[in-house]
Parts: sequence; C-alpha cells; structure tokens
Amino acid sequence: MSSSKEEFVEATEGSGNNGMLSSYVIAIIVGGLIAAAYYFLVLNKKKETGTDTKRKTKDVDVDDPVTTNTVSLQDITYIASKLNPDSTHLDILMAVASSPESIAWGLKAHLKRQNIVEERKEEDQKEAREKKKDSSANKSSSSNNSMFELDDEGWADEDEDMQDDEAKEKAKLAKKAEEEKRMAREELKKVNEKPKYVLEGLDDGVIGQIWVESTLSKSGVWPPPDMRFLDEMTFEYDGKQVSALDHPGLRRNLCHIAGRTNSILLNSHPELLEAAAQQKIDQTYFRASQEFRQRCAILLEAALRTAIGLRNSKLAETIVETVSIFKIGCKSPDQVDWFDGVMNKTYGTVPRLSISNVSIENPKYEEMAAGDTLVIHLDLGRQHAEAFTRQKIAMCQKQGLPPQVALQTYHEGWWYFLRGERLDGDVEGSVLEIKTDGILSQVDSADVDRFKKAKFDERLLIAWPMIVQNVAQKSGKVKIQFKAPPVPGKYKITVSVKSQDFLGADQEFSVEADLVDDKTVERKPKEEEPKEEDGKK
Ligand SMILES: *[C@@H]1O[C@H](CO)[C@@H](O)[C@H](O)[C@H]1NC(C)=O
Ligand SMILES: *[C@@H]1O[C@H](CO)[C@@H](O)[C@H](O)[C@H]1NC(C)=O
Ligand SMILES: *[C@@H]1O[C@H](CO)[C@@H](O)[C@H](O)[C@H]1NC(C)=O
Ligand SMILES: *[C@@H]1O[C@H](CO)[C@@H](O)[C@H](O)[C@H]1NC(C)=O
Repeated sequence: MSSSKEEFVEATEGSGNNGMLSSYVIAIIVGGLIAAAYYFLVLNKKKETGTDTKRKTKDVDVDDPVTTNTVSLQDITYIASKLNPDSTHLDILMAVASSPESIAWGLKAHLKRQNIVEERKEEDQKEAREKKKDSSANKSSSSNNSMFELDDEGWADEDEDMQDDEAKEKAKLAKKAEEEKRMAREELKKVNEKPKYVLEGLDDGVIGQIWVESTLSKSGVWPPPDMRFLDEMTFEYDGKQVSALDHPGLRRNLCHIAGRTNSILLNSHPELLEAAAQQKIDQTYFRASQEFRQRCAILLEAALRTAIGLRNSKLAETIVETVSIFKIGCKSPDQVDWFDGVMNKTYGTVPRLSISNVSIENPKYEEMAAGDTLVIHLDLGRQHAEAFTRQKIAMCQKQGLPPQVALQTYHEGWWYFLRGERLDGDVEGSVLEIKTDGILSQVDSADVDRFKKAKFDERLLIAWPMIVQNVAQKSGKVKIQFKAPPVPGKYKITVSVKSQDFLGADQEFSVEADLVDDKTVERKPKEEEPKEEDGKK
C-alpha cells in the first residue's frame, strides 16, 4: 500500500444559504479512493389523482421494478409522521414496512402469489380430469386408445352410404381436436417438468411464508411481540378497515421484517437448509423477500434524509444503525460480539477505524467567528484494509474472477454526524433552523414541531456521508466542512462516526471551538490558502 496519504473527502458547501440539504449531496473525490457518497434517491411526486383506490390490483405484475430509486413524498410524509427523536430501530422498521407504497407493494406480491396458486390449481385439476378421462376411456374400451380410430375408419370403409358427409366431417374434426388437445397436453407437461414455482401448501415439503411464520412463532417472535404504533392502526383491505396482521400485504412485509431481524435463527435452520438443497423454496415468498430488502434499503435512506432534514442527530444515528442491522440481518446493534465473531472468522479481523490528529480551523481566517464555515481535519486509518483485501482477492481467485472485480465493486458506507454544545452559556435550538422545503415539503407541521422542540445539542450541525470504494485503502485525510453556530461562544463540537455496514465500529470524538462575535470581529485573512480562490477557480 504505497500511497497511504491520499487526501480524500473534501467537503464543499453547496450553495451556502440553502442550508443542510443542498450541502448534503457532495461528490468531490480526491484521488478517487474514498468517494463521498453520492445519493441518487429521486423524489417522485406521485400524481395524487385519486386513481389510487381504483388501481387495478388484479393484473399488476410484481416483477415490475419495485426497486427503482424512487420514494414518494407520500411515503416520506408517512414515515415522518411515525418517527420522533426517540424512535427505536423497531419503530423505524415498522414505519418503513407500513408506508403506503410498501403496503401496496406487499399487496401486489400477495395477489401475484394468489394468481399463481390459482393457475396452478386449475392446471392440476385439468390434469386430473385428463387423467381420469384417459383411464375411463381405457376401461370402456376393451383394448386401447386407438380403438375409436379403428372403429371410425372401419365404418367409413365398410358402411360408406350409412354415413352422411356431415357426420364424417364432424368425426374428422373431433379427431383433429382430440389430437390437438393431446399435443397441447404434452407441451404443457414438458413446460411443467421444470415448474417455475414450487408452492408452499401445494407441493410437498415446500417452505414459504407459512413456514417462516410458524418457525418464528416457535421462538416467540411471531406475531411480532411488539408492533409499536401499528397496534393502534387499521388499514383498508377489501373495502374494510383491518388490523395490520389482517392485511395480507402488510402482514407479508412484517413477516419479511421479522424474518430479516431473525435471520440468524432462520438461515441456519435445518429445515430451510434441507428445502434449499432440494429446491423446495417457495420463491413467491423468498424471492419477494430479497426485493423487499432492496425496497427497505431505499426507504431507510429516505428516512435518513428526512431525519437529516429535521436536523435530529439522535434519530439520524438510530436510522444508520437500523440500516446496518437490517443489512446484516440481526435485531440490535448490541449484537457486536456475534458480529465480530463472524467478521473474525471471515476476514481474520474486525472492521475498525482509527481516528487521530483531529483539529478544527477556519480555512480563510486566523480566527473562528459565529456563522463561519469551519473545517475539522482528521487522519483516518482503516485497520481492516489489509485483511479485507486479502480475503476479497482470495474469494475472487476461488471463483476464477480477476481480483479487480472484488476491488472495484467494494462499498463501505460511513456517516459523520456533527452536533454542538455550548460550554459557556445557553443557546436556543432554533438557531439551527429546520427547513421545510424539499424532502419535508409535505410533512405535517405537527410532525415537524416534534423535532422543533429538540434542544441545540440534539440538533445536527451537518451530516456527511463517506463511501470507501477501495477496499485496500489503509489511510487518508478527511475534511469535514460545516457552518459554525450563529451565536458566539465556547463550543464543543462532537463528531459521531457511524457505519452502515458493521456493528461495533462506530466512534465519537470532540473538538472545542471559541467562536468570536462575527459582527465585531476584525478579520485576519490567512496567508497561504486564498491564492486559488482569488483566481476565481
Ligand atoms: C390403459 O390401459 C393400458 C393397458 O391395460 C395400461 O397399460 C395403461 O396404463 C392404461 N392407461 C391409463 C391412463 O389408465
Ligand atoms: C393397441 O392396438 C393396436 C392396434 O390393434 C396394437 O397394435 C397395440 O399393440 C395396442 N396397444 C396396447 C397397449 O394394447
Ligand atoms: C479472532 O480469532 C482468533 C482465533 O480464534 C483470536 O485469537 C483473535 O483474538 C480474534 N480476534 C478478534 C479481534 O476478535
Ligand atoms: C498525525 O500528525 C503527525 C504530525 O503531523 C504525523 O506525523 C502523523 O503521521 C499523523 N498521524 C497519522 C495517523 O496520520
């Protein structure tokens, strides 16, 4: 690892006056090693034309891209209405699973399964009928199936004048139709030899949602022992208001959530392993579960953006934890020991960052004043870089892939959340304004108010994503740019570093800053840096 001193993330403030949201999307990559996250979440303003209720659910196809990067403002508004600064991981997952579009998605998947089941039943019945026909034909005829044929021809030959043309024609047509049917049956048989779906409840030993629910229930985790706010809610289904678990679409989503958070229990279950080996997995549930995970990831990201828009550090941090536990497939970020064990077994190490040489400065002026743009510098080390690289390369070699593949597709996400605390007096939370445009534009003001109550030290100064795309990068320099609080005073700025992928890798550190009054300060420009800026670059 030769270049261990690449400069990476340089955080530039977007258009300064547009506040956090615009500066949130950064993508300045220095050296191309660690790229600032580049979020491609698209806000999709759904046309609220009232066609929703009339939406035909019968012929929708679950295979349509459910994982597009779009989240409707309607979903954001719903999620915001369910969250508060003290929301738990479960609250967040429940909110994501019960958003209007998630429910519609779950219902689609449910209806699609029903269609598949109905089709299968029809086919089975038809097949049974055909068999019965064949066998009864067999019985009634003393010899074999070609019996009628012979009779028919025999009449035609011997008693030609007894047969009118019409009857002959009819017999011919009947024969032809019979032949066509037979061929169609054979075709069907061929197709059915490798059925697209084996279905729980129809095919022996096949496991799906019923198995997941009953397995979870044996461990006391189904029905969800804690439904949070869903307990008091009802949902429209089939023209009626029903409870969460009586809504088949939502129930499906909740089963996916319970399955995911209990994946340690499920994935190692002998019945699942055996069914998988025999290809007896009901894909109408398990494949849908994969799609649901992708959908959740997108919604969680939208929820995180919402929390960042609401400037709430606690909620934002809890959401990042939720992203990681959902990705990993466990219940709580406290399962560090278990996770470390898995990591150690796979990589021979546990993923950790080392943070050192933390400093804060005003890049333009000698002094730091209220409202200035400040920069926190730090030296970052990825202690797991070498071991991870070794393992990724080994895995590629095993699969006969060029090692670059592993190195190029690597993705490790981190967040830097900054909050401040005034050490020499009070400061109102409202000085860090919550802007209700953009992502929050349709959020109910009462929901925003829950977050407006947050104190100054609970509010986000800024949030920066950092994506590591080079698994081998061992170290680098990070600059975190942010706008100082607008009130002069002595502050402690706390930086919380959170992983989207790992447990036990989060860290927190603080720096202090003495902010002089921006209205009375006499500015002393720094000598070195302004060169480039003067050149209007
Ligand atoms: C019809 O009869 C033959 C001969 O008895 C037998 O081999 C065949 O299995 C029977 N077919 C059906 C569909 O019952
Ligand atoms: C059916 O009848 C034909 C014609 O008589 C004969 O060749 C054939 O062997 C028979 N098949 C069976 C299964 O009895
Ligand atoms: C990883 O596992 C090895 C062997 O079991 C053990 O000696 C080592 O302490 C573990 N390392 C960590 C960081 O858990
Ligand atoms: C911290 O700064 C010192 C002095 O500039 C430097 O020698 C050291 O290598 C830095 N630490 C890291 C981890 O980069």
